[in-house]
Order: sequence, then structure tokens, then C-alpha cells
Amino acid sequence: MANIATSPAPSYTPFPPSGVEEVVGRKRFEAVYTVVLDDLLDNFRKHNMPEKVIEYCLHSMNYNVPGGKLNRGLSVVDSVAILKGRELTDEEYFKAAVLGWTVEWMQAYFLVADDIMDSSITRRGQPCWYLLEGIGSRVINEVLIMEGAIFQLIRKHFRTEPFYVDIIDLLHEVTYQTEMGQLVDLITAPENNVDLSKFSLARHSTIVVYKTAIYSFYLPVALALLLCGFPVEKRNESDPDYFKIALDILVPIGEYFQIQDDYLDYSGTPEQIGKIGTDIVDNKCSWCINTALARANPTQRAILDANYGRKDLEAEARVREVFCEVGVDAVYVEYEAQSYARINALIDAVPEVQNPNGDAVLRRTVFRAFLDKIYKRTK
Ligand code: FPP
Ligand code: MG
Repeated sequence: MANIATSPAPSYTPFPPSGVEEVVGRKRFEAVYTVVLDDLLDNFRKHNMPEKVIEYCLHSMNYNVPGGKLNRGLSVVDSVAILKGRELTDEEYFKAAVLGWTVEWMQAYFLVADDIMDSSITRRGQPCWYLLEGIGSRVINEVLIMEGAIFQLIRKHFRTEPFYVDIIDLLHEVTYQTEMGQLVDLITAPENNVDLSKFSLARHSTIVVYKTAIYSFYLPVALALLLCGFPVEKRNESDPDYFKIALDILVPIGEYFQIQDDYLDYSGTPEQIGKIGTDIVDNKCSWCINTALARANPTQRAILDANYGRKDLEAEARVREVFCEVGVDAVYVEYEAQSYARINALIDAVPEVQNPNGDAVLRRTVFRAFLDKIYKRTK
């Protein structure tokens, strides 16, 4: 067990390999983290919480929240700037970044909880929080505190805004949908009970959309839309549904992203993807196994049934052989080309509409920025 006092500080790995502008962008975003963390600690102080507890809370947040790639949080800020079509003022940047950090907070507590459910050992290059000495079942309360922190931040910075309740509603909806996705995944693919008859490409899609796409891709843009004054409710029958337009594009982008992730877990080298793929031995309901199941003959199917999800290198090699035989690689190349074309067509069809105040436009670039970042990625 790792000791809290000696465990390493969270790492700040730039992703993708950054140019100067990206590093500067991350630094500015990270500076807002220190402000919102102070807000949370001040709130503890306001309630006269003991200093040791405040120190602990600081350590817990620093360990779990800021050490990821920050793509979700940064995409709130980027989306707000694109919607407004100009550089943000300091105040606008700050508000967008606070919303960005709420997505990072959400991601943090999802991952702390997910690591317990998956019996994971490391996360973001350090031991999983629940494994640290002295944490034990207290982790349940810490996950809840991390979730509560999101609403404290929203309350502190947006309570008087007309869209306050819409932000809260959005965060609750997205959280619940992600939890539904996690439930489907846990029931479909328990690590120690392999039953490939539960798998299918349709089930894979449900898991991916609910567990990943909505909070990772739709949520950042939906928060940006709210901050820019795009209304949730239509005022006239002829008004566009800005949020549905965003959802209908960002969900396919999120699905494409996760399928890339699944494929890279199988095909990428450790040097390329920065980790050793474990989906096959972990019985993951991945796109690769579902594609193979859809194409396997009875002999190949029997090999998959006997070897998938087994903690055994030879079993893993037999599964990989079947993936090769059924042509998973070629199917992926075709899938990638088709997805790119389909999503581009969806983006081309977006009506570039203004918000009612006329100070922001739902631009296609919002979506193109996501697609361009992930198209043909190899890590
Ligand atoms: C990682 O999946 C998990 C998620 C992205 C979402 C998990 C959602 C929850 C745990 C909901 C929890 C909510 C509460 C209130 C406790 P993965 O295991 O496929 O990815 P990984 O390889 O990064 O672990
Ligand atoms: Mg996991």
C-alpha cells in the first residue's frame, strides 16, 4: 500500500504533445484550478471545519482532480471562444474555466469510483486513491464530497445567472446518464464472469454513448452553450434546438473516439499508446471483440468463448489470432473512413444560428475542432 504522505504529486502530462500555445493554454486553465480549490477550502472554513480536515481535503482533491489530460475541461473554454468568435475577456475566461473544472471534477470522482469497481491498481501514473493507506471505505464519502464540490462551485460562481438552474439540471442529467452507462457495462462485462453471449455491437454502442460520449463530448459544449446564453427552452416553434443539434453530433464523435480507444488498446504498441492494452484479459466489452463476434465462424467463436477475459498470455494470443483472421484491422480502417465522412456530413448540415442576444453563434467549428483533434489519432 502506498503511503499518503509520501505518494507522488499528480503529474501534468501535456496531451497531445504540446506546442507552446497549448502549454500556455493549459497553464492558464490550471491557474483557475487553484482559485476554485481555494473556494472549496474557504467553504470548509466557513463551516468551521478542523484545519486537519481541510488539509486532508486539499490533498485528496490535488491527488485526484488536476492530473489528467484536461481535454474535457479545456474544451469548455475553447468552445466558448469559438461560439463568441473572439478572444475572451478575463472574466469570460474565468467563468468558462470554472465550468471546465466542474467537468474535470466529475471525471475525477467517476474515475475514483470506477477504479474500485474495476479493482484497478494505478491511475494517471500513480496508485489508485482507494488503495492508499488509511482510506478504506471512507472513499465512499470522498466520492460524494467530490460530486458535491461541483455544485458548490456552480453555486458560488453562477447562483445569480439566469441559466443557474439549467447548469444544475444539465450536470444532474449527464451524471445520471453516465451512471446508467456504467451499470450496463458492469452487468454486461463483469471482470471475472465471462459470457460473450451478452456482448453485441448494439450493446457496445449503448455503453459507449452513455458511459463516455455524453459526459466527455456533449457536456463541455452544452455548458459552453449555456454560458453563452443559448436557451434550453424554445421561445418560438421555429427556434432551433441548439442542445439537440450539439448532442446529435457530439454523441457520434464520442462513439468514434471510444472505438479508436478500443482499437488502439488492441493494436497500439506500449511505446505508442503509453500503456499495455488489457481489454482482452479484462473481459472488456470492446469494439474489437464485438466486431470479431459478429464475423466469427463457429470454430473461431469457440476459441473466443474459451479464451476471452482470461488472465493468461496464451489465451490472449489465441484471441488476437482470431481478431486477425476475421479482419478486425481492415474493418477498423473502413469504419474510420466512414465515420469521418458521416460526422463531417452532420457538421456540414449544422445551421449556423445566433443566440437570442446576437452575441454568439453556434458555429460548425465547435464540432470540427473535436473531430480534427481525434481523426486518425494513433495514441
Ligand atoms: C471509466 O471506464 C469509467 C467512466 C468513464 C465512468 C464511470 C462512471 C461511474 C463510476 C459513475 C460513478 C458514480 C458515482 C456516484 C459513484 P473504464 O473502466 O472503461 O476506463 P478505464 O480503463 O479508464 O478505467
Ligand atoms: Mg476502469
